[in-house]
Amino acid sequence: MRNGLFALAAAGLLATGSTAACGDDGGTDTGSNGGSSVGKVGVILPDTQSSARWATADTTYLKAAFEAAGVPVDIQNAQGDKTQFQTIADGMISSGVKVLMIVNLDSGTGKAVLDKARAAGIATIDYDRLTLGGNANYYVSFDNVAVGKLQGEGLVKCLTDMKATKPIVAELNGSPTDNNATLFKEGYDSILKPKYASGDYVKGPDQSVPDWDNAQGGTIFEQMLTENKNIKGVLAANDGLGNAVISVLKKQNLNGKVPVTGQDATVQGLQNILVGDQCMTVYKAIKEEANAAAELAIGLAKGEKKETGQTVTDPESKATVPAVLLVPKPIYKDSVKDVVADGFVTKAELCTADFAKLCTENGIS
Ligand code: BGC
Repeated sequence: MRNGLFALAAAGLLATGSTAACGDDGGTDTGSNGGSSVGKVGVILPDTQSSARWATADTTYLKAAFEAAGVPVDIQNAQGDKTQFQTIADGMISSGVKVLMIVNLDSGTGKAVLDKARAAGIATIDYDRLTLGGNANYYVSFDNVAVGKLQGEGLVKCLTDMKATKPIVAELNGSPTDNNATLFKEGYDSILKPKYASGDYVKGPDQSVPDWDNAQGGTIFEQMLTENKNIKGVLAANDGLGNAVISVLKKQNLNGKVPVTGQDATVQGLQNILVGDQCMTVYKAIKEEANAAAELAIGLAKGEKKETGQTVTDPESKATVPAVLLVPKPIYKDSVKDVVADGFVTKAELCTADFAKLCTENGIS
């Protein structure tokens, strides 16, 4: 719980009621009673393929946060299936959850679920992805335009380090149905467009990857490279897509010569950085995100409404949604160690045989 409270403070969350933030969450009021009306929380995560985070980080940290507060939670994963997403939601709603937290697979199906929950008197949280038109009670995420800016700046730094002249830059964007992908692109295009306009960089192919499907991302990039052999830099929107790009580059012996970006600080992404095939990733401290979302959910489950201090405007409904937006961090070869120091990945999983020497060289202990 302590960590949760720290995250709350870090995120600028404030309790409106005097007893709310440090209430009776000693873990004894988990169940149905004792006068307390703590309800169950349902969490639906999107898939296990588009990023390693959903199967590992988010599940682990959310579970820990709810357990520490003694609040019952049901965390399920829709495995990329929109019908399954709705079925899970229906099950949670009829099982009587008091709060529903979702990472939508697209805004349409996400909104249908949020509408149903609201009609059943259930409080809602958009976790990581804003559901357009969904009007959830809260939105908890990172500053996703800032994520994109870090990626754009990262690519510029790596191209500069390589002394690239007038490089052709390809953009491999996230899912067109994920509002985050739109925000990431807004961020990196704000850095890259002026470079295209000044003639420093040449705008190459620019394509979105449906559902962030990594394999499809590889196929799309393979085609980009076939049509444009001189691509000299790739803005890949996350580590999974970055790895797909690197696999294609490897076939042409171009890995390490064409900088590639990423996001999520996955073990694979960090290993790609250590060997020099990936230029950078963006680390989002998912523990903080999970803790902030859990704090809000726990408040809602107890019938409390907390203030977040931040808001976003839903571009579709124009509604103002109370939000927590955390700060992302760029990671290059010399700062991979920071991700380990933060406990997000362990040395054991990162520094396997092939990477042990590189880990030592880069101060990972
Ligand atoms: C998340 C990223 C993730 C991507 C694919 C985005 O909405 O913010 O962290 O890599 O989805 O799952």
